[in-house]
Amino acid sequence: MKTQVAIIGAGPSGLLLSQLLNRAGISTIVLERQSREYVLSRIRAGVLEWGSVELLRKAGVGTRMDAEGQPHDGFHLAYNNQEFRVDVHEHTGKRMMVYGQTEVTRDLYNAQDDIGATIIHGVENVKLHDLKSNAPRVTYELDGENHKIQCDFIAGCDGFHGVSRPSIPDDIRTEYEKIYPFGWLGVLSDTPPCADELIYANHRRGFALASMRSPTRSRYYIQVPLTDKVENWSDDAFWDELKRRLPVEHANALVTGPSIEKSIAPLRSFVCEPMQHGTLFLCGDAAHIVPPTGAKGLNLALSDVHYLFEALQVHFNTGNSEQLANYSKTALDRIWKAIRFSWSMTTLLHRFPDQTDFDQHIQESELRYTAQSNAAQTSIAENYVGLPY
Ligand code: APR
Ligand code: PHB
Repeated sequence: MKTQVAIIGAGPSGLLLSQLLNRAGISTIVLERQSREYVLSRIRAGVLEWGSVELLRKAGVGTRMDAEGQPHDGFHLAYNNQEFRVDVHEHTGKRMMVYGQTEVTRDLYNAQDDIGATIIHGVENVKLHDLKSNAPRVTYELDGENHKIQCDFIAGCDGFHGVSRPSIPDDIRTEYEKIYPFGWLGVLSDTPPCADELIYANHRRGFALASMRSPTRSRYYIQVPLTDKVENWSDDAFWDELKRRLPVEHANALVTGPSIEKSIAPLRSFVCEPMQHGTLFLCGDAAHIVPPTGAKGLNLALSDVHYLFEALQVHFNTGNSEQLANYSKTALDRIWKAIRFSWSMTTLLHRFPDQTDFDQHIQESELRYTAQSNAAQTSIAENYVGLPY
């Protein structure tokens, strides 16, 4: 088989890249290890930056998002039973869209079906070859048979555990990592959200987040020790702990119900440099991970795809490869800013195992300062809604 761009992974990065390239007349083949049903059953984050919203519209997948997504003009920060609102729209002129990653992925799959794109599921043993030549290849197995794709470029969109990143030789690749000493226990439930906008809460017992997917579906999280097991958290225990950590007014308004998904995720920051090697380009979780506190994971994946798509389009249309050569540098500039923002939100809002009263005072005074300072709120708002591409 032959294609212009072979894409490894059919998460949001791979599917969006394939969608944009196909619409620009550039051929792709997407290889995905899992089944489509499996990909669509993964529950992930749900807040889109303004740039992500515009990019999805440009890719022709904005219709359902615009009809069913919930535009949010702000969010709330809570601490010590106090709460204030960051009016993102007032500070930036932009807003967020609350629309689940699962729905974004579903819309991308449907759009790919409509244009007849090639997505091959259930592939095994994917390997990348001759990355430094002008004729790279991808080999894989499907149902026990060996296959080969010849291509011009390979996009590694295969997430944190994929094969693409390790295909960049060790002596060329630098990895930066920070592991946080806690996780998030998340619950999805078919109950109305306890507030109209998201609430991020600093509490002495640990961080809590009230989020949502729709007017009838809520998503809540509480910080837990990494040693906790999800099976030891009953729904009742989760709701009780969440109520303790949310401001009283919202705890009282909380409607509880059976969880339809419950899981614990560790928190880490991770960056791989460079994000390209010869004809291979990494996008999304394959190259970087953020803790979920700033809702940046999906949004960063989408901005990587934007940069890579633009660079590939210029290359194929004009033969000029300068943008492509600068892809890693361009993408990493924005990624490190989001890494910093997610780290600072995580540091501000979580209870660390060795935290002293001094540390707690520092967190609370930063929150009080932010509550009272227009400049501080502008800074949080512009990072939260997404820095420009
Ligand atoms: N061969 C083929 N496919 C693979 C391989 C492999 N060796 N390894 C992983 N994959 C597939 C995974 O099954 C997955 O469907 O690559 C896909 C990667 O998708 P994601 O992990 O969703 O990564 P990405 O598309 O970059 O999305 C960015 O934003 O909110 C965050 O972490 C969240 O997934 C989210 C991410
Ligand atoms: C979510 O709704 O899953 C969500 C929202 C905001 C975050 C993280 C997760 O910062």
